[in-house]
Amino acid sequence: MRTSITRGIAAAGAVVLLTLGTACSNEREGSTGTDGGDAKGFAKDSLVGVALPAKTSENWVLAGDLFTNGLKEAGFKADVQYAGASTTVADQQAQISSMVTKGAKVIVIGATDASQLSTQVAQAKQAGATVIAYDRLITNTPDVDYYIAFDNFKVGQLQGQALLDGMKAKKAKGPWTIELFSGSPDDNNSKVFFDGAMDVLKPLIDKGDIVVGSGQKNIKQTAIQGWKAENAQQRMDSLLTSTYSKKKLDGVLSPNDTLARAIITSVKGAGKPVPVVTGQDSEVESVKSIMAGEQYSTINKDTRKLVAETVNMVKSLQKGDKPEINDTKSYDNGVKVVPAYLLPPVIVTKETAAEAYANDPKLAPLTK
Ligand code: BGC
Repeated sequence: MRTSITRGIAAAGAVVLLTLGTACSNEREGSTGTDGGDAKGFAKDSLVGVALPAKTSENWVLAGDLFTNGLKEAGFKADVQYAGASTTVADQQAQISSMVTKGAKVIVIGATDASQLSTQVAQAKQAGATVIAYDRLITNTPDVDYYIAFDNFKVGQLQGQALLDGMKAKKAKGPWTIELFSGSPDDNNSKVFFDGAMDVLKPLIDKGDIVVGSGQKNIKQTAIQGWKAENAQQRMDSLLTSTYSKKKLDGVLSPNDTLARAIITSVKGAGKPVPVVTGQDSEVESVKSIMAGEQYSTINKDTRKLVAETVNMVKSLQKGDKPEINDTKSYDNGVKVVPAYLLPPVIVTKETAAEAYANDPKLAPLTK
């Protein structure tokens, strides 16, 4: 519920907002997590800022155009920016500050580094903008109003289960030997994906049905900085040399498609049979690989849906309505539980690809 204090602040002018900035933050901190802040409505043609990370996977590339078109169709002015590949954090900080200066009423952020945006989102809040964390949570700040994403823990669980199913299909009984990979440590999703996967795999590891060949089981050892393909390929190369000169590798938990393809390239380069490798994002090259029987699985997180739901959130805020949320407990960012709208991810294998991508004009032809 919005409180009268929050409504009062929202109704006040910019100067008053600045003076009451701290009270406003405290008010939100003290809330139950369902308080999205100061939705009082704003002009229909207002500016909406969208700050996206570097283009580390196809989903981000797609999101940019979808936001530009979706926001314009809804009548807003859109300022959609990407962080550069090597100066990501500084780029994104500057882009968000500039959106605030230009008077954006809502700022949608796909964070490059979850914990490095508190100054910028504080500026946004003080200027009266609503901050929506898109796909990746922003941490250690009271100044994020909403989170919208696919259910990341579920993504991890689906990946863990797919790894197991794929290995069972090749060899009915364990023990199976695997390696674990996780995403970039500066992305809050990486831990959530990993925890979801370990929710399925850890009981089997504890029983000895699954063996992590290298012994590298914790998230620090498995992390791939920047979600970069070359870093994953390098780690897989070293694992193959250190552990698999004689031993057989049955499966690899890969958190996304970019890394999955890098892992497969490494294994093939070493002249080894391709193990069961999971993925995420339904990238074109990975869907082709799945259809060719190499990569085992991916996850369908339809970016068109996620962007459409985000634009719906912005429309609700414009009208002064409270946006729809369906989760008020999962995403504690270290300062507050951020009210979230989570969409269901879908696991895809060769068997289910045709059905999963039936409505996707880009992917459907690949499954024929
Ligand atoms: C997204 C994934 C993506 C990864 C790398 C994550 O935050 O949720 O879909 O594969 O970033 O870009």
